[in-house]
Amino acid sequence: MTSQVRGVQLARLLGQWHALPGRRRSPDYAALAAAVRGLLADGRLPLGVRLPAERDLAEALRISRTTVTAAYRELRETGHLASRRGAGSWTMLPGTHRVASTGLWTPLDDRDMIDLGVAALSAPAQLVPAARAAAEDLPRYLGGAGYHPTGIIELREAVARAYTERGLPTSPEQIMVTSGTQHALDLVLRLALSPGGGVLVESPTYPNALAALSARRARITTHGLAADGDGWDADLLLGSIRQTRPKLAYVIPEFHNPTGHLMAADLRERLVGAAHAAGTDLIVDESFVDLPLDGTPLPPPVATFDRHSRVISIGGMSKPYWGGLRIGWVRASAPQVQRLAAARVGVDMASPVLDQLVAVHLLAQGPGIVIDRRIQLAAQRDALVKAMADRLPDWKVTVPRGGVTLWVELDGPISSALARAAEEVGVRLAPGPRFGLDGTLERFLRLPFTLPAADLEEAVGRLAAVRYDLDRAGRPQWREPSVIA
Ligand SMILES: Cc1ncc(COP(=O)(O)O)c(C=O)c1O
Repeated sequence: MTSQVRGVQLARLLGQWHALPGRRRSPDYAALAAAVRGLLADGRLPLGVRLPAERDLAEALRISRTTVTAAYRELRETGHLASRRGAGSWTMLPGTHRVASTGLWTPLDDRDMIDLGVAALSAPAQLVPAARAAAEDLPRYLGGAGYHPTGIIELREAVARAYTERGLPTSPEQIMVTSGTQHALDLVLRLALSPGGGVLVESPTYPNALAALSARRARITTHGLAADGDGWDADLLLGSIRQTRPKLAYVIPEFHNPTGHLMAADLRERLVGAAHAAGTDLIVDESFVDLPLDGTPLPPPVATFDRHSRVISIGGMSKPYWGGLRIGWVRASAPQVQRLAAARVGVDMASPVLDQLVAVHLLAQGPGIVIDRRIQLAAQRDALVKAMADRLPDWKVTVPRGGVTLWVELDGPISSALARAAEEVGVRLAPGPRFGLDGTLERFLRLPFTLPAADLEEAVGRLAAVRYDLDRAGRPQWREPSVIA
């Protein structure tokens, strides 16, 4: 599954490598090696890719080949590069830096803790009336056995209608209701991936998707997203699909978790084309599609560009409505839905009828509820951004145009240390490495804006104190771009 990065591509990723903060009088080769280590630490340059030949990189950077040779030598010495004569050099991380990125990632029940580990809103006021109305509807279903492996028809119709309204004609036969988006992902993986199958994911990405992929023993490769700008690098993403031809690619194109990026229409189209040409199926996680903020217009759904049943879309009620409902869905071709339903019989048979009826009632009032959610989220986002600018001005924030999270660039690779210290002052954090593989992303922190503004402001105040104390503790060497465990 090795893919290769060309000289011009690496040069683009390296950007202003010769002017990195913290560079004093270090020679060029050391600055170049440090910049490559920084890209690896941030997940922008995946592990296991072949770096350009020395001559190619020297030409792209307009520096001498000797400088590149010395930089590659240093990277080999620090354990960031493995080389074989005649075959090239591959990126890696030193063994001691590996940390687990998967594991239990659940909300806390500790009420005194400000929990910024979970990016989800509390339930809307309309939930209890919807549950009462659902109970009234239930007798209509009590005459049957209650097992509906693809979901009750009224919910499948409501979900299909919502896709059609987004410009993607969809019939109820193309919808399967699941117990949440996570369940949808797991079912799709059961069907589409055999153990050891290759899967391309974004880095960073949603940690529980990584957990689902690990459970199916996927062979994961990554596409590094930039924290700012467009996020996806079209050239690298499509190149990596063409070169590695993974069985599946898992992407979050709408207000990506954790970065908040929105994939542009033309990349959606090119992605579907490249996937089809490579024999790759795309799993498109649309968890945040209902949550554009500031009136941001949405590009067409990725599946709009699909002519060959390459795209399986998954989504659910958790982000716009409530996670506790545990209702999600898959949109695929009708035969794929039938195969998923057959696979599901060996897992959980079907989703609860009552919960599906609650979902039907909530979706019927969907526009009103979702507009309120967007207003609430935009206000909370703005409060969080302002508190950060006031109290933590050295942290870089790109304001997302939707979704529920800020992906914050810290002033050093301190994310795990910060999360440990924050726990002591009653703030739970999701540190950057949870969103990547192999201990990368230590310079980043995900901050959701799903809690009330007052809680967010209080949390930022505590984080500012913790950040100050971390420096006084005098430990991490965070000024140079480096990887810490
Ligand atoms: C991208 C993404 N996919 C899936 C999920 C899981 O959603 P659900 O609660 O519907 O299982 C989340 C929840 O945070 C998410 O962010």
